[in-house]
Amino acid sequence: MLAVLLPFAAAVGVYEWASHVTPDYNAGLFGVNGVDTFELKARLATALLGLAVIQLLLALWMYGRVPGGRPAPKPVRTTHRVIGLLAFLLSLPIAIHCITAYGFETTNARVTIHSSCGCLLYGAFVAKVVVVRSRRLPGWALPLAGSVLICAIGVMWYSAALWVFNGDTLPPV
Ligand code: HEM
Repeated sequence: MLAVLLPFAAAVGVYEWASHVTPDYNAGLFGVNGVDTFELKARLATALLGLAVIQLLLALWMYGRVPGGRPAPKPVRTTHRVIGLLAFLLSLPIAIHCITAYGFETTNARVTIHSSCGCLLYGAFVAKVVVVRSRRLPGWALPLAGSVLICAIGVMWYSAALWVFNGDTLPPV
């Protein structure tokens, strides 16, 4: 029950905060303000995506899904945890900037997807932590929570960072 309630509360909490904020379009991030934050955030989001890909590869290794790979040694698990924490910490300044600068925007489909996925992302972060600590949940719960998390990071990157890198437009999928 907690595995459903806590992630839901986290996602709704982010939504409530973002949808009640008064946007400050000149909000700063690491000493950078206004339009200059776009490129910085896009780069940080790319670093976050990179960490997510590493996490996916480490998870596949731990689950014995790397073709021809040896069983994962113990440090793989520790590395996965450390990188997971780093990814969470890296996401915070980006998300806090998004929320204080824009709030929950629905001006077009891309922005609506980005804002919604931002809420889902923190629900997924919480779900991952709850599931990893639970011994009672079924075996598929952890890969499911991890996959949702990685997909959410991918969508966040595609809907905003790629948009910035590509001159304020998205390449066709
Ligand atoms: C890890 C989480 C997040 C990442 C990696 C991320 C990344 C980005 C990036 C790179 C941009 C483009 C640069 C900019 O306009 O400043 C952006 C814009 C934006 N973000 Fe986020 N963001 C995250 C979380 C959120 C959350 C939680 C919300 C709100 C609920 C949100 C709402 C927005 C909005 C409304 C924009 C402006 C979009 C536009 O007008 O083009 N973001 N985000």
